[in-house]
Amino acid sequence: MCGIVGYIGPRRADRILLAGLKRLEYRGYDSAGVAVLGEGDRLDVVRRKGKLSALEDSLSDAGLTGRVGVGHTRWATHGRPSDENAHPHSTGRVAVVHNGILENYRELKARCQERGCTFSSETDTEVLAHLIDLELQGGKELVPAVLAALAEVQGSYAIGVVSAGTPDRIVVAKNASPLVLGLGQGENFAASDIPAILPYTKQMVFLDEGEVGVLTTDGVEIMTLAGEKVERSPKTIQWSVVQAEKAGYKHFMLKEIFEQPRAIEDTIRGRYDSGTGEILCDALGVDEAALREARSVILLACGTSYHAALYGQYMIERLVKIPARAELASEFRNRKPVVGPDDLVVAISQSGETLDTLEAVKVARAAGCRILSVANVLDSAIPRASDWVVYTHAGPEIGVASTKCYTAQLAALYLLGAAGAQVRGVTGVDVGALVREIVLLPGKMKSVLKRSAEFQDLAHRYAHHRDFLYLGRGLSFPTALEGALKLKEISYIHAEGYAAGEMKHGPIALIDRDMPVVVLMPEDEQWDKIKGNLEEVKAREGLVIALTSEGWGEDVRPICDEFITVPATHPELVPLLTVVPLQLIAYHIADLKGTDVDQPRNLAKTVTVE
Ligand code: M6R
Repeated sequence: MCGIVGYIGPRRADRILLAGLKRLEYRGYDSAGVAVLGEGDRLDVVRRKGKLSALEDSLSDAGLTGRVGVGHTRWATHGRPSDENAHPHSTGRVAVVHNGILENYRELKARCQERGCTFSSETDTEVLAHLIDLELQGGKELVPAVLAALAEVQGSYAIGVVSAGTPDRIVVAKNASPLVLGLGQGENFAASDIPAILPYTKQMVFLDEGEVGVLTTDGVEIMTLAGEKVERSPKTIQWSVVQAEKAGYKHFMLKEIFEQPRAIEDTIRGRYDSGTGEILCDALGVDEAALREARSVILLACGTSYHAALYGQYMIERLVKIPARAELASEFRNRKPVVGPDDLVVAISQSGETLDTLEAVKVARAAGCRILSVANVLDSAIPRASDWVVYTHAGPEIGVASTKCYTAQLAALYLLGAAGAQVRGVTGVDVGALVREIVLLPGKMKSVLKRSAEFQDLAHRYAHHRDFLYLGRGLSFPTALEGALKLKEISYIHAEGYAAGEMKHGPIALIDRDMPVVVLMPEDEQWDKIKGNLEEVKAREGLVIALTSEGWGEDVRPICDEFITVPATHPELVPLLTVVPLQLIAYHIADLKGTDVDQPRNLAKTVTVE
């Protein structure tokens, strides 16, 4: 969704803002702009519909030399993508960038219009610029003017405000949309996400909901919406700049697929005792009592993270042996779910900011549930709304299609299941063996990644097909869903993931010689049944792309059109390996089709609206 960058310091603001916006491109956008304060109380605004290259062209003509400014990439919610609706929205005196939705903007707009304000866009955001301007006209300083304006709005926001009359500061505020402040030497930064400002500083301050930040060249002050001062120490970000760049790969997605062995290593590191094979619950981020006392576990998430939640459901059932269910956060929050204090909710989100997941957490908390989150972005909204957090240490994920964060989530959920078994003393579960196997996993993943060219060849053979079916049973069902989602979101090919047992109840009607069917059939207890599905597909002349374990399935190889293997591993870890060829096949098909792999059409990396 929208991205914000703010800069104050000795450098040319337009350059820092543009570079930061480029690093936020993955969030998804349809227009972009900057507002820069220049000499003699000038406030220059440059906005362009389309890609950042259009804004860059306009900026090189504009020659803005100011050192203070805010920038924005917009993902349209209120008003179509256009130059006029692009941010910043300016009154001439005040310019505002905004990520979120102002729910009562119509009523506020009418009030502003009654007071003589003229609007030039269809957005909700413009009302905020006018409200602040009216307060300035009434004699307030910039900070009190922003506080007064925010007191009138309802909804979600991260905002950045600059004013021509106050060239020594930027005012930012946050309520339910992400915002981080970066502390430099004689310069300071604000951004929607860490990678935007990571090249300049690793010292970051995270705003809480309902907080305001005032950035000057000397430092950053934080206060509540009521104007009360807040003390907050900066945190040091461990991500490197290289992690947030392409490092020679054609796309971020490809780089992130190849980073998976490292992401798994970092996610499991320090969370088990290498001598005893015991899970270290404190290091993992879970509370032993919460695991011991939970009557059931409800896993909430959206998109790819929901597929991880389904995997987590299997982990809890198979390892902890208590009831577990995965739920789409958007459905959970809008039902009247019957949950209570005995239920442990596990909220899974790469960004930690997905609105539906956050709202579902609030519903669960209101019902008395205890909340554990699995998140990748430090101090994001969902971890903050949780009692405990298991962080995945996958590093920044820039490609809109989630890859390394998915397998890192699976690794975290595997450890969570093992921790639950350990704490509850579940008989028949050998936690030490589970730990020993996941330690070997990064090496096995590397051996799959080395075969990327094999999957690229396969992509050449299948890229022209218009529909794909992915089938899996048991632990391979979430992988079938994830494989189909990867293909559809980046290649725009219709793909469906199905529980193979459901095939006879409908999808089998689709199968003909033009329908590639990816059959996930690793060595496991479901083998005989999935083999039956494979034969049913072949009987209808479907094209079978079989995915199985090394040294397994030789009896079906002759009837498969493609036969892919991954190294053998513990049954619970198979989904971390079988998804890798599916990611690579989706990637190579999309690349062949020439789609915008890292920023697929209509998609945003972080969905902060309903
Ligand atoms: O940040 P989250 O994990 O909460 O995001 C959830 C989904 O929006 C996300 O997984 C989405 O489905 C990705 N585009 C999948 O590749």
